Amino acid sequence: MKTAVYPGSFDPVTLGHYDIIERTAKIMDRVVIGVLQNKSKTPLFSAQERVKMLEEVTKDLPNVEVRCFDGLLIDFARSCDAKVIVRGLRAVTDFEYELQMAQTNRVIAPEIDTLFLNTNLKYSYLSSSIVKEIAEFGGDIQEFLHPQIARKVMEKFAQGRDLGKK
Ligand code: PNS
Repeated sequence: MKTAVYPGSFDPVTLGHYDIIERTAKIMDRVVIGVLQNKSKTPLFSAQERVKMLEEVTKDLPNVEVRCFDGLLIDFARSCDAKVIVRGLRAVTDFEYELQMAQTNRVIAPEIDTLFLNTNLKYSYLSSSIVKEIAEFGGDIQEFLHPQIARKVMEKFAQGRDLGKK
């Protein structure tokens, strides 16, 4: 059984992430999406909310599961019995950081390889941060997210605006 982990913040999951998940699910027997819990910056969505959103959008992919993780990625990969870490590469700007992570992880865990998938050209400009910035200022984010996720992001920012008024 070939298992891959696909780690990230997923705050929130975008159509670019989903494209990578769908393609990984086709080439691997099992895909475990790892939602990082302990990022230094405060996320828009809690880890539980992010897991739930990923479960929702991947419900029709039977070999995909979603878990939360804390600490080192390679420990998470080992706990999933995965020998592959998948990361999406959007552009050359991603490369330096991704290569540094992959090289470091390979030194700590030589039995685990990082597999890079080039992002679908359609989503090569897309990031969760850009989507949040557009939503924060009332822009239309429907092009970038599953409809139910777009709704949740808009609700979050609407809640924030209501709180600001009080
Ligand atoms: O979607 P992101 O935020 O770019 O994902 C980054 C992620 C989660 C892959 C990275 O921050 C990570 O692996 N964090 C876990 C801590 C860790 O293992 N750090 C050492 C990596 S060399």
